Amino acid sequence: MKVRKAVIPAAGLGTRMLPATKTVPKEMLPMVDKPVIQYIIEEAVASGIEDILIVTNRAKSAMDDYFDYYPELETRLNQAGKDKELFEVRRAADLANIFYVRQKETRGLGHAISRARRFVGDEPFAVLLGDDIMRAEKPVTLQLVEAAEKYGASAVGVQKVSTEAISRYSSVKVSPLEERIFSVSDMNEKPSPEQIFSNYAILGRYVLTPGIFEILEHMRPGYGGEIQLTDGLRELSQHSRMVAVDFEGRRYDTGNLNGFLEATIDFALDHPASGPWLRKFIQQKAKEL
Ligand code: UTP
Repeated sequence: MKVRKAVIPAAGLGTRMLPATKTVPKEMLPMVDKPVIQYIIEEAVASGIEDILIVTNRAKSAMDDYFDYYPELETRLNQAGKDKELFEVRRAADLANIFYVRQKETRGLGHAISRARRFVGDEPFAVLLGDDIMRAEKPVTLQLVEAAEKYGASAVGVQKVSTEAISRYSSVKVSPLEERIFSVSDMNEKPSPEQIFSNYAILGRYVLTPGIFEILEHMRPGYGGEIQLTDGLRELSQHSRMVAVDFEGRRYDTGNLNGFLEATIDFALDHPASGPWLRKFIQQKAKEL
């Protein structure tokens, strides 16, 4: 079982980041000096993925443009001797084989994934949410791929969250298999206190078997009137093997303002050009607060 393909759903409306996301897709907001989605594509590539499908909508064509060549700009950079900028502009376009499909109606994450059926065909595939950036020594998708391959299973990335926070995520019912890996038998999207299975929440990364498509196609709208991926995963976990990987790394939800700001500060502090300056700036600012 080799995972060569990934799907990045990026067709959400981004209402938590309005008004910025009225015309700029949230996946294209700059995270220091690159758009958010580039970090996600780089994680997929570092995990051995060759082909990537981005699920977009009519307001998101900035993404296809970004991963394309831009001859006029490149010629100008070349003539000006701006080699570093030229390299980065080209690198973004050459990262992977990127394909696009539109989700014509915003009917939920499960519906967005179902649009990938023809691209995926009959092989396991990774899913990386378009607004969740992971910072990890070993790419989080690779951690999931290895577990999925080892157990011949689908895999969901989880971490423990507080009891107050779990109601914003999907809670999974788990039993331990080995350190950081669990077997999954059930799950709930945005559980009320009495529906909580565990404090392990699914956080933005999955490796799925193609059986999910059949399930999603017959899925009725769930929480919020949307076709929920969690409802599909729940059924998948009851018919076939699924593991949860308590992944090592830090997840940033850049789809809400606080998460976006946390990520911006952490990534900027690590950036060779801006990091030393920002550290001093923050120290100075802290004195004034
Ligand atoms: P989110 O709920 O985080 O994204 O969906 P959203 O709907 O854009 O957010 P808000 O609440 O309006 O701010 C998780 C992922 O699923 C994708 C989103 O793009 C995001 O990557 N998604 C969601 C779709 O592709 N299609 C949908 O219909 C819904």
